[in-house]
Amino acid sequence: MKTVITYGTYDLFHIGHLNLLKRAKALGDYLIVAVSTDRFNWEEKHKKCQIPDKDRMAIVEAIRYVDKVIPEDSWDQKIKDVQKYNVDVFVMGDDWKGKFDFLKDYCEVVYLPRTEGISSTQLKEDLKNK
Ligand code: CTP
Repeated sequence: MKTVITYGTYDLFHIGHLNLLKRAKALGDYLIVAVSTDRFNWEEKHKKCQIPDKDRMAIVEAIRYVDKVIPEDSWDQKIKDVQKYNVDVFVMGDDWKGKFDFLKDYCEVVYLPRTEGISSTQLKEDLKNK
């Protein structure tokens, strides 16, 4: 069985997120999604989420391509996660291209093209201006 892992915030879940998860699952048999906690977003990424982490995790867990959801609460948990879950492929959108190449010592690393024209940041801006 080929295990794939990906990380993200998934705030205001949108079509770019769905496309990413669908393509991530197609790279293997079992997809783990690490959803970043509110604390991690606020304290480490300086991003405020609209949707609480428990709800973001429940939404991602309900997506048919997703087999397991875990919390992402630190920058340096990735190697531990890859080892713990025997991950074969680490996937991120290509806005992160090159940033996680250090994981190549542990698994395959793939950066997928983003869906153009949509992001959580853009949605938040649009809602603010309505
Ligand atoms: N993603 C994507 N296409 C988009 C938006 C996101 O493929 N249009 C991917 C990201 O590259 C990442 C995953 O979806 O692998 C989760 O991204 P996240 O950062 O939660 O979503 P964004 O919409 O990029 O959020 P933000 O604007 O806050 O950065």
